[in-house]
Amino acid sequence: MTITEYSLGLQRGMWDVSLEAVGPEPAKISNEEFASRQQRLFSQLRPNDLLIITAPDESTRSNDVHYPYRSSSDMLYLCGWEDPEAVFTAFNDDGKWVTTLFVQPKDILQEIWEGRRPGVEGAVKNWPIDNALSHDELNDSLSNMLVKCSRVLVKLGVDSTVDGLVDNEIKSNSRERQKFGLGPVSIIDPSRMINELRLRKSEAEIRLMRHSAKIAAQAHIQAMAHTKPGVGEWQLEGIIEGLFKYCKTSGTAYPCIIGSGENATILHYTVNDDTCDDGEVILIDAGCEYNGYASDITRSWPVSGKFSDAQAEIYQIVLDAQLAAIDECRVGNSYDAPHKAARRVLAEGLIKLGVIEQSLEEALGSDGELNKWYMHNTGHWLGMDVHDVGVYMPDNEPRLFEEGMVITVEPGLYFGAWRPDVECPERYANLGIRIEDDVLITKDGPDVLSGDCPKTIANIESIVGTA
Ligand code: GLY
Ligand code: MN
Ligand code: MN
Repeated sequence: MTITEYSLGLQRGMWDVSLEAVGPEPAKISNEEFASRQQRLFSQLRPNDLLIITAPDESTRSNDVHYPYRSSSDMLYLCGWEDPEAVFTAFNDDGKWVTTLFVQPKDILQEIWEGRRPGVEGAVKNWPIDNALSHDELNDSLSNMLVKCSRVLVKLGVDSTVDGLVDNEIKSNSRERQKFGLGPVSIIDPSRMINELRLRKSEAEIRLMRHSAKIAAQAHIQAMAHTKPGVGEWQLEGIIEGLFKYCKTSGTAYPCIIGSGENATILHYTVNDDTCDDGEVILIDAGCEYNGYASDITRSWPVSGKFSDAQAEIYQIVLDAQLAAIDECRVGNSYDAPHKAARRVLAEGLIKLGVIEQSLEEALGSDGELNKWYMHNTGHWLGMDVHDVGVYMPDNEPRLFEEGMVITVEPGLYFGAWRPDVECPERYANLGIRIEDDVLITKDGPDVLSGDCPKTIANIESIVGTA
């Protein structure tokens, strides 16, 4: 074997074990499914409505370099179009909803520099739409559509060109409207309708989310295996992000949180520039985006490979709280049942350890002592956005879980000794633990999409430092 073959073999070994564990790539969302999503939305509209779905502009990172482009989740959800300068519209023509997608036109010079474009022809041929037009025609075409509608359904504040056109049409058409009743009279945000659709995941979406979670689980396992005293938080970040790319994701779903020691007590710590020291616990919150779907996993483990007694005491309370919360993720339960269950177990555990010297009822009260050490919610919807859409309290009533909803379950305890607002128990000083999984609600109970990621003390200790 040559040196090159040998070193290639070594590298491939580590990544390919994870790839194998992740399994084959699931199918992308089909055009039939996009069409059915569109129809479910259209069925809630009125015949004279004009629906406009916008996407953000590209944003500049520095000088003439852009951030990697990511379209709006609503655009991706309704038609799967990923490129910038896109607008999706739908209006009702004699009982049939007609969709038009405005796209970047073919432009050989731009394509030589920045990549191939499907253009108008490619869009009509391969995407779930009736018509495509060049984005250059947006002004004229959209104005024509606006004149004919009575309500515009558009989320303002995303695409300033569209906002301007809508605003203009509402203002300028008042004479026509008075004479003939033409032109838009109201603007409605369609988000609420789309969010309700997005909240319940289809079989195809669940396959993509499970795949996303499987990749994130492997990334955590690799990070555990590569953790040794002296390793940099940024080095573990490199392993995680490298694996995300190796598994063909578009990268992280949110900036990785990789905090060792006191950094673990900062909920959204993303500097990741510290060294992991012997005796510390490291908390990693990292998830990827696979074909538009996020995963969101947190694990906490000892840098040395072995939890101290004090660390294990807190870890076990958080794990027990997480398991109790997951068990509440059942059809018909209130969305906050997991939060209530987690808080109860955390409070009981801290009372037992003497960290909280209040009754259980007092500890759980709105100004009870649990808030000092557990200050966030236990979960959020997960989907195309990491903090996914969906109203938690529709009509001021708690949402009840239904099949196909996906929620994270992520209790934690954080003892920041650096905090001036609390007196931190010395035994747990600068210890931060969070355990987070992605849970699908099914008729048979909770299905932990991120279940490949180890979380018992014994399983974690058997992996840390073994790479
Ligand atoms: N990763 C951010 C969160 O868990 O909410
Ligand atoms: Mn989360
Ligand atoms: Mn998270």
